Amino acid sequence: MPPNPWYRTATFYELLPRAFRDSNGDGVGDLAGIIERLEYLEWLGVDCIWLPPFFDSPLRDGGYDVSDYLSVHPDLGTVEDMAQLLDAGHRRGLRVIADLPINHTSDAHPWFREARMPGSPMRNWYVWDETGSRYPEARIIFLDYEASNWTWDPVAEANYWHRFYHHQPDLNYDNPEVGEAVLDVMRFWLDLGFDGFRLDAVPYLYERDGTNCENLPETHAYLKRVRRTIDEEYGGDRVLLAEANQWPIDAAAYFGDGDECHMNFHFPVMPRLYMALAREHVRDIVKILRDTPPIPETCQWGIFLRNHDELTLEMVTDEDREFMWDVYAPEPASRLNLGIRRRLTPLVGNDRRALELLHGLLFSLPGSPILYYGDEIGMGDDISLPDRDGVRTPMQWDGSLHAGFTGSGVDAAAVYPPIVAAEAYRPEQANVAAQRADPGSLLNWVRSMLAVRREHPEMGRGTFEILEHDNDAVLAFVRGMGSRATLVAVNVSEHPQAVHLPSLAGRVEAGDADLIVDPTGLIVQIGPLEFRWLRLS
Ligand code: NOJ
Repeated sequence: MPPNPWYRTATFYELLPRAFRDSNGDGVGDLAGIIERLEYLEWLGVDCIWLPPFFDSPLRDGGYDVSDYLSVHPDLGTVEDMAQLLDAGHRRGLRVIADLPINHTSDAHPWFREARMPGSPMRNWYVWDETGSRYPEARIIFLDYEASNWTWDPVAEANYWHRFYHHQPDLNYDNPEVGEAVLDVMRFWLDLGFDGFRLDAVPYLYERDGTNCENLPETHAYLKRVRRTIDEEYGGDRVLLAEANQWPIDAAAYFGDGDECHMNFHFPVMPRLYMALAREHVRDIVKILRDTPPIPETCQWGIFLRNHDELTLEMVTDEDREFMWDVYAPEPASRLNLGIRRRLTPLVGNDRRALELLHGLLFSLPGSPILYYGDEIGMGDDISLPDRDGVRTPMQWDGSLHAGFTGSGVDAAAVYPPIVAAEAYRPEQANVAAQRADPGSLLNWVRSMLAVRREHPEMGRGTFEILEHDNDAVLAFVRGMGSRATLVAVNVSEHPQAVHLPSLAGRVEAGDADLIVDPTGLIVQIGPLEFRWLRLS
């Protein structure tokens, strides 16, 4: 057991440094801006900030195309500013993890520039093939942009391998120097004070003939090595959060025997939460949770409603994907690759009940909740922007020009992505200042839920038991830890429902008009799109 498995009861908050707060009036968010807003994050009650890549980069993939791992992008500040951010965060009790794209670099990275040179001793830092036909079983991930995982490089006179954009060549982990160099990058940022990493795109580190080049044993072996190194050199407090968008059984493999990553995202459960709302039944959620294997005691899922990418529909059947697109993305412009490029609030039609219900699930299903900046105030999106920019617009701090994201004297054209202009989501409609002042706001509701959750460690660390009953519209489960147990009941339908739970006979005190306690069990009555937490004896 690591000394402090803090990540099992923590709430994470993903914020984009470029879009959070601009401190110097150049129209781009920066690290000093984040420091200015740490007070807000502490007030909100989150525990750990996830910073998407902040390194120097040509920014052709939102910074996931790194050209210098040991730097901060000049738009955002300096390494010294980052040290200050870490320090200021820690003083407020906030941890910070860095998003590290270790599968690939930008083609502008000096490693790649060197590797492509004829006769370069660094050639095998990347993956090359003369014909560009190797590994045909590997799928293409950025389907809307790339036709192949190989791109011809006229300088190298060979094709290089890339699982994402063609300007993001994959590193070659078969070369031990690569694994060492990446460990050194990790040491650099851990030395500065980071509390861990989100490890981007980890299923694709190695390639092998005859496989789909995902989740290979060599990849797991390297991640175990990373874990060992970090535990040995930095103690057990730092966390590794894998980004492995895989089916539950493959995703759980990233925990190893508790000796690989501490956390991994549970991608498959996410779209099924939206499916449940649309179908008014919870069968898909129940099935995926039943298909999810138990995980080691020291590990934790990361669960989320939205993030900086499209809402991915990779981990659903073709039929379910069509259904999700029909319901949640009827306009073709809102579809991207195998997903939907919309934010949470527009997805559910700005329906407060749906927002509360989804957060209720997020805060009680097994895993640590990961919030995406702006969703707590019901921010909108802009599908007229390219790629995923429309879900990466500036945080709306107040109702003023530029939403308090940057100074009002800044030229609007300098603010990219532009602030959301759609009527229902403009800064006047959705902003932090107004919602902080309004006790009935979504923001204050999320904050109070986080406070309640903090009093319920069983939501993070407890056992999870789905209760059998015969009403498909209601998900009922118990989170238990030691002598504590909480019943969670969620009605995903537009109609009032009741569930009869025989196993809870005698475990809830009567006294609530919606609870009927009889000798055969507990009957819970629950309103349309409502969720409840009930203490059990
Ligand atoms: C996963 C990241 O979440 C996404 O934003 C990025 O485009 C890909 N990795 C490729 O770097």
